[in-house]
Amino acid sequence: MSTYNSEKVLSVHHWNDTLFSFKTTRDPGLKFENGQFVMIGLEINGKKVMRAYSIASPNYEEHLEFFSIKVPNGPLTSELQKIQVGDEILVSKKPTGTLVLSDLKPGKTLYYLSTGTGLAPFMSLIQDPEAYEQYDKIVLFHGVRTVSELAYADFIQNELPNNEFFGEEVRNKLIYYPTVTREPFRNQGRLTDLVESGKLFEDIGLPPFNPETDRAMLCGSPAMLEDTCKLLDARGFQVSKRIGQPGDYVIERAFVEK
Ligand code: A2P
Repeated sequence: MSTYNSEKVLSVHHWNDTLFSFKTTRDPGLKFENGQFVMIGLEINGKKVMRAYSIASPNYEEHLEFFSIKVPNGPLTSELQKIQVGDEILVSKKPTGTLVLSDLKPGKTLYYLSTGTGLAPFMSLIQDPEAYEQYDKIVLFHGVRTVSELAYADFIQNELPNNEFFGEEVRNKLIYYPTVTREPFRNQGRLTDLVESGKLFEDIGLPPFNPETDRAMLCGSPAMLEDTCKLLDARGFQVSKRIGQPGDYVIERAFVEK
């Protein structure tokens, strides 16, 4: 039996020169938890080229959605960025990953902390009604270099709050905090600096990180993860050591070397 399903591309959206998203069909047998990733890829010159991609759509949707960087000479993304509606891509049959709600201890405020394409798993999770049942507040932090990299901002701000099933929960509980580091924008600066200075908490009206009440999920570059882990560890947070063992926070690398 093959490890991969072949799925059809349903739509493609290019955010800018470096980022794009696409939707595909979903094999009815593919089950996943919001926040998990699969291997996806193409057959290029007779060879399967596969990379890990977080699923950006929630697990109750009929389709799958992915959010990708375009790496100029990337073995996969140099080809993947050319995909068109109707093309086929390979999707692994066994989703996995650490960014799952069940690996967090109970808490009051849940922080989704992302940079760049690290936003992808949180696009799935902010559409998970269970998260809103479990937490009083959910903060989605997305740090990018330029305004054009703030993918999904319109969906998060204008569509999600009007979701017919859990829009009210989103309006009451979700705080979206986009920030840009290399251009003017209403929020500026790196996550780590905004936490250290307390600016993030002032802006969102919540108290500084506290392991008694706060939980976090991290997805970003290796440097962002390292610095953010240090910051959380210094405040007494305990990382989940492995899948199935709940902690105060969980981490996953944004899969960028595509
Ligand atoms: P900066 O512009 O100051 O480097 P990248 O595209 O390199 O992954 O960066 C995405 C965003 O993450 C950028 O805003 C970048 O800020 C920020 N960033 C990069 N390294 C870190 C880090 N170690 N801690 C926090 N944020 C970071």
